[in-house]
Amino acid sequence: MYLDWDWTLNIGIDSIDNQHKELIDRLDQLLTSIKEDKGNEEVTKTLDFLEEYVVKHFNEEEELQLKINYPLYNIQHKQHEEFKNDLKEFRRVFETQGTSALLASNIQERLADWLKNHITNLDKDLGDFMIENGYNN
Ligand SMILES: [Fe+2]
Repeated sequence: MYLDWDWTLNIGIDSIDNQHKELIDRLDQLLTSIKEDKGNEEVTKTLDFLEEYVVKHFNEEEELQLKINYPLYNIQHKQHEEFKNDLKEFRRVFETQGTSALLASNIQERLADWLKNHITNLDKDLGDFMIENGYNN
């Protein structure tokens, strides 16, 4: 296991926390398939799932933020776009060059560590905002 959900990533909003757990799980699967040479088919399958799921998750999160007038929406949107672009870029690299230790460490840094950072800073703030304003039920 290269990446695991833990309570430091909990933002207190079940619907979002559950999606974060799924994302963390699938990113771990992606890292495992690359680092442990599970074959290109497995990597492709996980990338397919992630690309679709990330769009769905960020869209839902952003729609929610707009609905409740969350003040940091613009920063959230910008960071989500960066993540989606990085994911696309890694797919491009994978499709042209295959897997490598460098690809794995870039994914670890720019997707896995990035996501943990984004959740513990920005999404945690969103969770606090929702709880303070009574949007959590
Ligand atoms: Fe977010």
